[in-house]
Amino acid sequence: MKIAVLRETADAEPRVAATPETVKQFIGLGATLAVEAGAGAGANISDAAYTEAGATVGDRAATIADADLIIGVQGPAAADLPGVKSGALLAAILSPFADRARIDGYAAAGVTAMAMEFMPRITRAQSMDVLSSQSNLAGYKAVIDAAEAYGRAFPMMMTAAGTISAARVFVMGVGVAGLQAIATARRLGALVSATDVRSATKEQIESLGAKAIFVENVKGIEGEGSGGYATEMSDDYKAAQAALVSSHIAKQDIVITTALIPGRPAPRLITDAQLASMRPGSVVVDLAVESGGNVEGSRVGETAIVHGVKIIGHKNAAGRLAADASALYSRNVFNLVNAFWDKDAKTAAFTADDEIVKGVKLTEGGKVVHERLTAG
Ligand code: NAI
Repeated sequence: MKIAVLRETADAEPRVAATPETVKQFIGLGATLAVEAGAGAGANISDAAYTEAGATVGDRAATIADADLIIGVQGPAAADLPGVKSGALLAAILSPFADRARIDGYAAAGVTAMAMEFMPRITRAQSMDVLSSQSNLAGYKAVIDAAEAYGRAFPMMMTAAGTISAARVFVMGVGVAGLQAIATARRLGALVSATDVRSATKEQIESLGAKAIFVENVKGIEGEGSGGYATEMSDDYKAAQAALVSSHIAKQDIVITTALIPGRPAPRLITDAQLASMRPGSVVVDLAVESGGNVEGSRVGETAIVHGVKIIGHKNAAGRLAADASALYSRNVFNLVNAFWDKDAKTAAFTADDEIVKGVKLTEGGKVVHERLTAG
């Protein structure tokens, strides 16, 4: 099996889908590896490092020629896969709901496209879960970004010149990113509180030493849907949550929002009026900014200042730690391929009836095949 590693061409994408470590692992399985020149530059990996690991390095056409499996971080347009062979596999983050035409393009080119972010959340697939590996880093970096933008210290300090009080950090949305944000803010010495619609997170918040801020006794409180994801909440719940958050937020220095609902725009958690209640110099990091934003006034790729509050809306939060994000993403991809590796044939055999394959496969045999894309 020939595996091709692409240089990312999407805007603000410094990550890469294979590292010298995973190149060696793929070669250990019996694969041959072709890496597009410059693929690792954004993650500080030189072409020479890939060559030393056993890959060939060349231009895009040479990389793709005869490739059986093409791996990337963000999906390239089918037109950017010159000479791709019909039946080739592609594994990347494909965002089919944001750009359906690209998926139709893969089908037309005869490419079997696999969306890494559609990985089912089952135990067997945990090591292949790119949403988890990347969100964890995003949650950490959000706190570091907030600390950098905040004109004060995080920990309480008792000095001869007087005491500095600890920063108050509020984390909204306690999935993978939120849990890491809580842990990071605690390590920096902040007073941390957090909220989520899934009541199961209450115990997790408390076990990390943070205070759980929860709406109680309102119909529609149980916000857990399938696969551990959040569901859309009732109007009563939303009103109660807004009232609780308003009184809490006015006392916070830093707010990190991470709330997402799969397949829908991100829920709006902070309004302009709530921002106005915060102290000037406070910082809000909206990790959901690329999905529509949790915070009124947040802008993709910008830091907006609203009522004296800095609202940070970085694009590609995980990509801001490109080396670590690439290392973890690359291992996720390797673990997927390795799980389906046929030692005798020296190729990955993605068996059609497997739960993982059914979960990620979007196109095959010239057609879009995933039920989430064909339904309705
Ligand atoms: P996510 O990125 O989809 O959403 C982030 C958080 O926002 C979630 O905790 C969600 O409940 C919360 N949220 C949504 N609407 C909200 C609102 N209106 N107000 C406040 N919070 C709101 O979530 P993520 O990080 O993907 O995790 C979802 C679940 O999946 C978690 O229970 C996690 O532990 C689980 N998980 C399971 C895995 C596995 O079994 N392989 C792997 C990774 C995560």
